[in-house]
Amino acid sequence: MSALSSALPDFPWDLLEPAKAIAAAHPDGIVDLSVGTPVDPVPPVVRQALADTSDTPGYPLTAGTPRLRAAIAGWLSRACGASGELGVLPTIGSKELVAWLPTLLGIGSGDVVVIPSVCYPTYEVGARLAGAEVIRSDSLTALGPDRRVKLIWINSPSNPTGKVLPVEHLRKVVSWGRERGVVVASDECYVSLGWETTPVSVLSDEVTGGDYTGVLAVHSLSKRSNLAGYRAGFVGGDPALVGELLAVRKHGGMIVPAPVQAAMVAALEDEAHVAEQRGRYASRRDTLRSALTKAGFAISHSEAGLYLWATRDEDCWTTVDRLARRGILAAPGAFYGPAAAKHVRIALTATDERVAAAADRLAEPF
Ligand SMILES: Cc1ncc(COP(=O)(O)O)c(C=O)c1O
Repeated sequence: MSALSSALPDFPWDLLEPAKAIAAAHPDGIVDLSVGTPVDPVPPVVRQALADTSDTPGYPLTAGTPRLRAAIAGWLSRACGASGELGVLPTIGSKELVAWLPTLLGIGSGDVVVIPSVCYPTYEVGARLAGAEVIRSDSLTALGPDRRVKLIWINSPSNPTGKVLPVEHLRKVVSWGRERGVVVASDECYVSLGWETTPVSVLSDEVTGGDYTGVLAVHSLSKRSNLAGYRAGFVGGDPALVGELLAVRKHGGMIVPAPVQAAMVAALEDEAHVAEQRGRYASRRDTLRSALTKAGFAISHSEAGLYLWATRDEDCWTTVDRLARRGILAAPGAFYGPAAAKHVRIALTATDERVAAAADRLAEPF
């Protein structure tokens, strides 16, 4: 038996343990800005919906309840400007879909999955789980006429860089994919968190004109609604592709629990909590951005999303170490691709108190 795990990259967070130990030894405690895990409360309206659905002894629908399917379609229409006939499907958070999408689409050995040059590590993991080859590229022309390409991932706003892809770029990727029969998967987990620009969904009429052939958009309620602990995501797009995902997921038991489905409906039908959460992140972002800039960091991209992409123009591990000695834990750019070796990722997901502590510590001479 060949262990599947041996095909996977090292689990990167293990490499951060030594820096974490240094940061944790700070007399005033660690400020952990490495992982983008929400720390603010789950919105009461969502908790109530979960509680109200706790008596659900039967199996839930893999396709989602009719109410959830309508809530997803309604949100994609309102928030993403998608006016056509969409296929929609809830997922158990979006990470599992990212990790299994190539496999679910029947992609495998001899096929190629294209991922951004600097990106969320799970795109690569998903390709490797399926036995496919990975090419990192942000340029379609650089890919040439490689017929092995079966899937291309884009991620706007990007984790980790915070870069937003303009409408023209999204259009080019969609038409490039359609000409070649390549599926375009757009990870839009941070679409609700635009700061200096308004991110556009690949499903927007501006991009696809209501025709979703070959296109999937991946969404998550983890960041938008503080639901990382509930595992609540969904995918929308090409009805034929979504139907294929549903068919396989039904057999595989990849089902969102019924109380979480109800909680998702409540989250998608309420925008007030999203505005409140955005406000919290906006103020933490201002504090951290100005403290980092004063400490000599340059901030790249970061026009949207949940992170500041910062550099001191030195090896990222040196920066991680310098920050750890001030009790601040950041994620090294190296986690996200070889082209990111001089950046660190600073998450906005810490309490106001911890963010203020980070700003004070950054004011100490470097
Ligand atoms: C780009 C991107 N996609 C997907 C995910 C997965 O999120 P979740 O599984 O919580 O929906 C994350 C989480 O950080 C992410 O940054």
